[in-house]
Amino acid sequence: MAIFHVGVSAVPRRTLSQTFRSKSRPFCEDLIRWFEVNARDLPWRRTRDPYAIWISEVMLQQTQVKTVVPYWSRWMDKLPDVKALAEADERVVLKLWEGLGYYSRARNLLRAAKVIVESHAGRFPDTEEALLALPGIGRYSAGAIGSIAFNQPRPILDGNVIRVLTRLLAIEGSPREGALNAALWELASDLVATAADLDYKANTPFAAGNCSAVNQALMELGATICTASGPACNACPVRGHCKAWSIGSPEEYPTPVTRPKVIQQRFIAVVFGCKGHYLVRQRTTDTLNRGFWEFPNWQVTYDADSPISYISKLLGFSEDRFKALKTVRHSITCHRIQVFSYTCELSHRNQVAEQGAWVTLEEIAALALTSAHRKIASHLPEVAKLAVPSPR
Ligand code: ADE
Repeated sequence: MAIFHVGVSAVPRRTLSQTFRSKSRPFCEDLIRWFEVNARDLPWRRTRDPYAIWISEVMLQQTQVKTVVPYWSRWMDKLPDVKALAEADERVVLKLWEGLGYYSRARNLLRAAKVIVESHAGRFPDTEEALLALPGIGRYSAGAIGSIAFNQPRPILDGNVIRVLTRLLAIEGSPREGALNAALWELASDLVATAADLDYKANTPFAAGNCSAVNQALMELGATICTASGPACNACPVRGHCKAWSIGSPEEYPTPVTRPKVIQQRFIAVVFGCKGHYLVRQRTTDTLNRGFWEFPNWQVTYDADSPISYISKLLGFSEDRFKALKTVRHSITCHRIQVFSYTCELSHRNQVAEQGAWVTLEEIAALALTSAHRKIASHLPEVAKLAVPSPR
């Protein structure tokens, strides 16, 4: 195990777990007692169903709790168990995921559900080995399911936990990489094992036992108190154990990562309309948003041309055929995407060479559209008139 210099003072070089071992029992107990009183009442905390907890954890890797609640509730209404998911059409799954991004996660949920039905007779596996063998389940998800659903002493390490632990011990370095990452996993393992061994037993409806409580509490503390900027140290139940608090610099941890360069991309999208139908096409070739629907669009690198003159030259239409709709902005990983959108009314479908499906607005509402194109659709004047359901 790699050795780290912990904190700014001259402490001997020891592993993180060794450094913290004498404090880990009171730390876990303080944290669990705090969780009992302060845990947010979230719908997936009122169940021990590993399927429901798995879905919540995968959604929570995408976005914040507030956004996940309605997505999770809709998902559980439509696909209440692993069998229902395994039998679901991929389009239904993608529609339920629409807006969360990283659609490969939704596809992996479907693939994993099929494996659980076919290879585990529909029973959710409870061993780390079997969980890790499922598509899309990595160390974090296996730890979250093992500890939260089955109350097993399995570690979790996500962004919130990394922040709490690096502050706790004032650890510098890249916490998502190499030896420091391995040492943080080891510390997280020690903490959950310590929690399992406490005489004190968690007393909360939101956790199946101490392993669940301590792991959820670490994440909860990171999400609500030990936040990235402006941590509320005065309200922190474990500040007495915290090295970064004692040296007055919690915000310096974790060491900031050097972000990849932002890539700006511009597209022009045209909503072709013909007698109440609109041309859409399905993304097939690239992996990003594969299978999702969108309006015809072109990436542009123009410098001199305006979007409208570019598109009219490209399609051989006069500029006055296009009506500006909305400029939509969208971010995905390091891409900052700007889509200039236009409508173009045709008298015959064959006036455009673009291939795709001609669909009504109601059909568009039911399709899984990419987020940027869902925003474009919501700005069509006909949508407002017809009060077609807005993106959910
Ligand atoms: N973030 C991801 N999973 C979480 C959980 N179970 N509790 C709190 N925050 C989380």
